[in-house]
Amino acid sequence: MCGIVGYVGQKQALEIVVAGLRRLEYRGYDSAGVAVISDGQLEVRKKAGKLANLEGLLGSDPLPDSTTGIGHTRWATHGGPTDDNAHPHVSEDVSIAVVHNGIIENFAELKDELATAGVHLTSETDTEVAAHLLAREVPLADGDLPEAMRRVCRRLEGAFTLVALDRTQPDLVVAARRNSPLVVGVGEGENFLASDVAAFVDHTREALELGQDQVVVLTPDSITITDFAGEPVEATPFTVDWDASAAEKGGYDLFMLKEIAEQPKAVADALRGRISKDHRIQLDETSLDEAVLRDISKVVVVACGTAAHAGLVAKYAIEHWTRLPVEVELASEFRYRDPIVGPDSLVIAISQSGETMDTLMALRHAKAQGARTLAICNTVGSTIPRESDAVLYTYAGPEIAVASTKAFLTQIIAAYLVGLYLGQVRGTMFEDEIRRILGELDDMPSKVDLVLDTTEHVRELARELADSTSVLFLGRHVGYPVALEGALKLKELAYMHAEGFPAGELKHGPIALIEDGVPVIVIVPSPQGRAVLHDKIVSNIQEVRARGALIIAIAEEGDEAIVPYADHIVRVPAVPTLMQPLVSTVPLQVFACEMATAKGHDVDQPRNLAKSVTVE
Ligand code: G6P
Repeated sequence: MCGIVGYVGQKQALEIVVAGLRRLEYRGYDSAGVAVISDGQLEVRKKAGKLANLEGLLGSDPLPDSTTGIGHTRWATHGGPTDDNAHPHVSEDVSIAVVHNGIIENFAELKDELATAGVHLTSETDTEVAAHLLAREVPLADGDLPEAMRRVCRRLEGAFTLVALDRTQPDLVVAARRNSPLVVGVGEGENFLASDVAAFVDHTREALELGQDQVVVLTPDSITITDFAGEPVEATPFTVDWDASAAEKGGYDLFMLKEIAEQPKAVADALRGRISKDHRIQLDETSLDEAVLRDISKVVVVACGTAAHAGLVAKYAIEHWTRLPVEVELASEFRYRDPIVGPDSLVIAISQSGETMDTLMALRHAKAQGARTLAICNTVGSTIPRESDAVLYTYAGPEIAVASTKAFLTQIIAAYLVGLYLGQVRGTMFEDEIRRILGELDDMPSKVDLVLDTTEHVRELARELADSTSVLFLGRHVGYPVALEGALKLKELAYMHAEGFPAGELKHGPIALIEDGVPVIVIVPSPQGRAVLHDKIVSNIQEVRARGALIIAIAEEGDEAIVPYADHIVRVPAVPTLMQPLVSTVPLQVFACEMATAKGHDVDQPRNLAKSVTVE
């Protein structure tokens, strides 16, 4: 949510900042802006709408040469997406420019204070107060911008990353971070700041993780970090393990198409190195003590959106393998209902970005109750893994399209590995059982590849059904979270009413939604697995079919029993029941992507959504 870039060095800052913003546009795209220092002046350009609008403005009203700059892509919170509300915000005397990610919760009282002091605010944002406060503090701090930043930050409540320029200090970029993401890119004779390494990975793969409540000061040759009290702190260095090409479309029209296609590799990468030669799970990087895992009495998964659906899938497997109760809770609900968690609970936070504020807050609440915490995360160095006792990275590579695809599959894989590890450590599974399941997991990259080879039928269906007003998704067992995920994808991308239901629950209300021709996509359980599930879903199909629904069955190869009950069948390879989500989700991703394309929507950047939601 909101992308931030900062640069100081020898090159033209504007080019680097705008290219970085292009990489971060997935985080927010309501408006964009840049500021540079040139000849002792701050020059700002900003524009509502996508980055292209800002680029247009920069074409007609160019910025002067400068080697120091900041930039921002916005996802509006306080104040609509207008030119005035776009960042950077400047102080009245245009001495200070600020970009911000997050929400300054006490902004109203600070605004009143500024108004009383005669400061005129020109936007509706919470950010603007930071620019004015900084400009008033700099002279009081004898012109020391980092000290002024620390003083201002001590007064701010909420979540923020702030990056500031002072027109009198042309080789300086100062940033502060509390709860919102910020990473430093370490260059030679140049340094970078960004919400996400994607913004600077073209220039350097050496990065620093920042902790909470820290201020970082960049010059071309130095990086200095302190806490808000001014005490020096050490940052943790890390090397980005993917290169710039991973954050590009690589010949695909859309990031989403590329990321769907990358799923076999992503699944293989998520498994790599985690299975020993003697077929045991090795999760060395988790650093969760085996004794601790033996003592826990329940597992709680906290997550949002697609990651929560991955948690729901994992619940079926982990409970089955470990006999531990698994609760899956939407992170935004978790901490506000006084959940029962303590030292005997393993709380797993699943997050692609590692920055989702709701998930972070749930994690902190669990930690405060003494729970053991484990992050399943895709973004190395992000906040959620850093604050967890242990982490299992999904290694899906950068996911740029807002609608999550490869992250989902790899989150399931990682959560399954955790489940198997618990089974291994706690002795609830036989070794040959673990070996068999590991073999099944090992088969999944090629099975997902097979699904990708046969998506044409799904695309055709999506185009045919693009004018539908509503699509329902039904599933049972692990097919139920898949139904939820299929519906979420369609809502996100096709802006269409879509809902996923447990097929058995249909008759208790949702069946009233069925009318002639309503498409109902059914995730059909394998007849080989638990035949009873297959039989039950056939009954559920008949219930909706009798009321006019158009049935699209996602069914495994060889399931002939489904033929009489479906108007269309999308075939997926036959796999064991618990592996089914890894194949049956893929056609639903393709379906949503194609339908959105048919409707002319921006698939990679759907309206109102942000990839990384860093406000509660
Ligand atoms: C946003 C994204 C979703 C994502 C959710 C959780 O809403 O648009 O695609 O599933 O956040 O994100 P996370 O990074 O925590 O997995």
